[in-house]
Amino acid sequence: MSRKNLFIGAAFALFPLTLVAQPKELVLYCSVGEEWCRAQSEAFSRETGINVLMTRKSSGETFAQIKAEQGQPRGDVWWGGTGDPHLQAAQEDLTQEYRSPSLSDVQDWALRQAETSGYRTVGIYAGALGFGYNSTLVTANPPACWADLLDARYADDIQVANPNSSGTSYTMLATMVQIMGENPAFDYLKKLNSNISQYTKSGSAPIRAAATGETAIGIVFMHDAVAQAVGGAPIMTVAPCEGTGYEVGSMSIIKGGPNPEAAKLWYDWALSAKAQEIGATAKSYQVPSNKNAVTPPEAPKLSDVKLIDYDFAKYGSSEVRTALLARWDAEIGTLGK
Ligand code: G6P
Repeated sequence: MSRKNLFIGAAFALFPLTLVAQPKELVLYCSVGEEWCRAQSEAFSRETGINVLMTRKSSGETFAQIKAEQGQPRGDVWWGGTGDPHLQAAQEDLTQEYRSPSLSDVQDWALRQAETSGYRTVGIYAGALGFGYNSTLVTANPPACWADLLDARYADDIQVANPNSSGTSYTMLATMVQIMGENPAFDYLKKLNSNISQYTKSGSAPIRAAATGETAIGIVFMHDAVAQAVGGAPIMTVAPCEGTGYEVGSMSIIKGGPNPEAAKLWYDWALSAKAQEIGATAKSYQVPSNKNAVTPPEAPKLSDVKLIDYDFAKYGSSEVRTALLARWDAEIGTLGK
């Protein structure tokens, strides 16, 4: 081959590499609030030029979608939502191992999700479960404990999500089982059912309903109740007196997704302090996992909340999550609303 041909050959050989190195698109499955999903997608697009095709769905719904698409994955990254279904996705080989260079920047509780899953997921934020009430509807003797929610005066005045679709509600189910033991937890949920007006699809919908006065109490993550109060609604946030569970909001790369290089770029970026500080600009007051990210002043202080030692490995396992949801369907879902 002449020197000239060699040069042309080399240039053609390099050209496809350049294309591979610059992904154009990312399909994002997002399980935080809609406003944060949008802000995060737009910031990434601005910084990288990569077009983000984002869909917002609750954690359990997204898990089910990724499982249904296993034969032909359509999504690249699952960003946000409670950690348990991310752990189940890892166990079921739906997500991809990835050891981001940014893992060294995250808090221990976030790294533990990575270690538990064989580096198929990682924590991006944390938040404690609790509830919020509308202080114009609940004036005297407001609820302070999980037990108080069984009071007959709240008949048909409490909302919580369905644990199949919502990670928030699954966190509540797993929290009750860890605080009380499984049979007493289901007894509690049966009694609570008399006060529930509606099991919503999304985890934060109950507190949006409380903010407008549609219901008195919403069982949600505490930061979701705070967001309504910051927005001007008469919502008081409660850390239940018996203690409570918490989420490690997580992120995973979907195995076999169409844009694996873009997925890694998102993953590394989403672990940075700068990317994690976008949450507060979209009224999301979780505790970020990057050690250098500023925790929004509005975020409930986890050190002030009586947190249980939530067993993520157990309650995020395929066996336990599947069994608890099946029991909820059989014993609570069938009671009807
Ligand atoms: C809200 C919370 C997040 C949580 C998510 C779970 O967006 O702010 O911290 O991870 O709900 O959503 P889901 O609808 O699955 O309960």
